[in-house]
Amino acid sequence: MDSQSSVRKRVAVIPGDGIGQEVIPQAVKVIQATGAAVDFTDFDWGAERYLRDGVTVPPGGFAMLERDFDAILVGAFGDPRVKTNIHAKEILLGMRFQMDLYANVRPVRLLDAALCPLKGVEPKDVDFVVLRENTEGVYTDAGGVFKQGTPDEIAIQEDINTRKGVERIIRYAFEYCERHTKADGSPRNKALMCDKSNAMTHAGGLWQRVFKEVSGEYPQIKAQHMYVDALCMQMVRDPRQFDVIVTNNMFGDIITDLAAGLQGGLGMAASGNIHPGKTSMFEPVHGSAPLIAGKDQANPFGAILTAAMMLAHLGMAAESSKIEAAVLEAVRQKKTTQDIGGSLGTRAAGAWVVDVVSRQ
Ligand code: NAD
Ligand code: IPM
Ligand code: MN
Repeated sequence: MDSQSSVRKRVAVIPGDGIGQEVIPQAVKVIQATGAAVDFTDFDWGAERYLRDGVTVPPGGFAMLERDFDAILVGAFGDPRVKTNIHAKEILLGMRFQMDLYANVRPVRLLDAALCPLKGVEPKDVDFVVLRENTEGVYTDAGGVFKQGTPDEIAIQEDINTRKGVERIIRYAFEYCERHTKADGSPRNKALMCDKSNAMTHAGGLWQRVFKEVSGEYPQIKAQHMYVDALCMQMVRDPRQFDVIVTNNMFGDIITDLAAGLQGGLGMAASGNIHPGKTSMFEPVHGSAPLIAGKDQANPFGAILTAAMMLAHLGMAAESSKIEAAVLEAVRQKKTTQDIGGSLGTRAAGAWVVDVVSRQ
């Protein structure tokens, strides 16, 4: 490898299914427009490939991603033709679990008051981050079904919480506060752990004890707690109070769709699946949206903001900021898809951002 190629970042691109195929090409074009030193390699993992040859992840696929790439940019998985959703489980949850991408970082930022369904809420009022444990909980799919189809049927879905898993995501939350500021430059100084320890006492007890212990190491950061049901209500009543929220896999999944609603919907929400120091994976929060797939209607901004997140993670802060500024401008000028009030298609909204980025 010569010195030039060693500084270029290698990104694996897996658009996946449905609107993933439409939004990810826009995100790639926007990255290219920044002039970032990134090389892309495309992978066809997804429903189409699975239906063709039965392969979800080729043998050695995860080891290859870790070895040959600096980051992975992913679209979405889910196809009405694959009823079991086995390919999503093996590809998406496979990356999260087998590559041990334990921190699912989901920023919640309102770019323009017009996008928020709450009255009187300004961009400065919605700027928090959800840190979702990404490798255990109910997502391990441990359990089983017994006496299926009989009146005595039993279905067990285990909630796996390990000391190591809980501690590292909670620690990540406190470290996140230390290393990041809000968009307006003010410090992140509140870490809120969200659980359901009043009903799920075994798992909740572990989360409570670890949170108390780890928070003691960060006296400058305010440690807070809320039950997940109360948190949902507060998120809608007064999103201003939130800064960094840390929670388990399933609660994190649910509250980030709710939080996406505050930002203008699923089309605006970005995420990163991170293990510090290892090849990490970046994907919009939304799914494959089969009902609008192939119609040039999907909002590409969630994917484009995800690309910005990925570049920041790869140390390309200037390129990342260019992208965020261009998306902000598009939102302000209503150069957007219909879901957030504009009249452009996926490709035209992407092209508008590409144009602004390439002129910066
Ligand atoms: P979804 O996110 O695909 O869609 C939910 C709603 O939001 C739909 O009305 C959809 O049209 C809209 N929407 C989503 N993204 C949009 C965008 N970019 N622009 C405009 N509108 C957008 O969730 P769903 O309908 O519950 O699931 C559809 C499929 O996607 C399922 O197979 C599900 O398992 C899968 N899924 C995958 C991921 C992922 O791969 N990360 C995430 C969520 C859902
Ligand atoms: C997400 C998705 C996935 C999840 C699905 C597709 C398994 O909803 O990334 O938010 O539940 O994690
Ligand atoms: Mn989800």
